[in-house]
Amino acid sequence: MNILDIIAKKVKKLELTKNELEFAVTGYVKGEIPDYQMSALLMAIMLNGMTEKETACLTEVMLNSGDKLTFDYNIVDKHSTGGVGDKTTLVLVPLVASLGTKVAKMSGRGLGHTGGTIDKLEAIEGFNTNLTVEEFKKEVEEIGASIAGQTGDLCPADKKIYALRDVTGTVASIPLIASSIMSKKLASGANKIVIDLKVGIGALMTNLEDARKLANLMVKIGRLSGKEVIVVLTNMNEPLGYAVGNALEVHEAIDTLKGQGPKDLEELVINLASLMVSLDQNIPMEILLENVERALKDGEAYEKFKEIILYQGGDINNIKIADNITEVIAENDGYVKSIDALKIGELARRLGAGRVKKDDIINPKVGIVLTKKVSDEVKKGDVLAKIYYDNTIIPTQDVLECFKITKEKVEKPKLIYEIIKE
Ligand code: URA
Repeated sequence: MNILDIIAKKVKKLELTKNELEFAVTGYVKGEIPDYQMSALLMAIMLNGMTEKETACLTEVMLNSGDKLTFDYNIVDKHSTGGVGDKTTLVLVPLVASLGTKVAKMSGRGLGHTGGTIDKLEAIEGFNTNLTVEEFKKEVEEIGASIAGQTGDLCPADKKIYALRDVTGTVASIPLIASSIMSKKLASGANKIVIDLKVGIGALMTNLEDARKLANLMVKIGRLSGKEVIVVLTNMNEPLGYAVGNALEVHEAIDTLKGQGPKDLEELVINLASLMVSLDQNIPMEILLENVERALKDGEAYEKFKEIILYQGGDINNIKIADNITEVIAENDGYVKSIDALKIGELARRLGAGRVKKDDIINPKVGIVLTKKVSDEVKKGDVLAKIYYDNTIIPTQDVLECFKITKEKVEKPKLIYEIIKE
């Protein structure tokens, strides 16, 4: 077998066999196939697509590239396809665990303009995200939840291929996203998986039609592996909540755990938590909603959050944010029609909240906090957002341009579009 023939086959839009995919992926992981040939294959896949069978084979090959975790009990997992201001995991994991469902959450770092849970948690002084498999499993057993970076040697193929996709314009491919997410989720030992698939200008999937295709594909791959997968399509046109930037988002997550969070984040977390608990405990989601809301509002979830932070060495009283703040001021009266999540994410990255190159060190203290959301009324002179900066400053005009203000009243946008399952 030869990588050039495999690339040529995909260029001709033909279906690759499992053996061919295995040859390409394992050869790449071992360093026998160079970046430039793998990039060519990924671009051919991006342009010409893959059949469902090919995608399932690619998922299996990536899954088999490393270790697989196993647990002696039910584990429910959640994955987000990435967004701006998406601090959902920080609230969701303790909330679900406080309701008696075990969560072993492996999270990633920020990618492109989107943030990552591990970067956010590292804004908490002392918090250790670098756990061994044994430490990770022990924490889940003892306190019902853990949030860590990818431990052990899980899906090394995805790690290497994702990093290459990130710098070769091959991230936004439905089969590549499906196999990347599903291989990781299958390797991490969960038997029930809830995926928060973000849709909109700040997300990888910018329209509902593509999002549905990706969702159905992941549900099918899950079924083939005997795992129950539910995908929730959610709005990512404006940032989730108000805060964008690592420490700022942790503070907002804590406010939410104290029952004082933004309405959209609260709604998302309550729905996702109800789904996860319903999957684990076999109780209809509708019956759980009230209980879940109570656990969030009466502090049970916050107690669990503090337990997780303490267990992993973090100091909840030491989450520093930047001292320098500039305000972004509205120039007209009206209503907020849109807030460009992609641009806000990119501006936060420019402030230092995200990476431009793989090895960049992020600044956890900086970011942007919106003070208005879509549909809010605005008066000239109102503060639309605050920029928290340290060493790098961005023009307030750039943030102002993310806001579209109209004279007409604007309806609150829908947050949860659809739930896709078998
Ligand atoms: N998240 C992943 O884990 N992989 C992708 O390819 C896209 C989003």
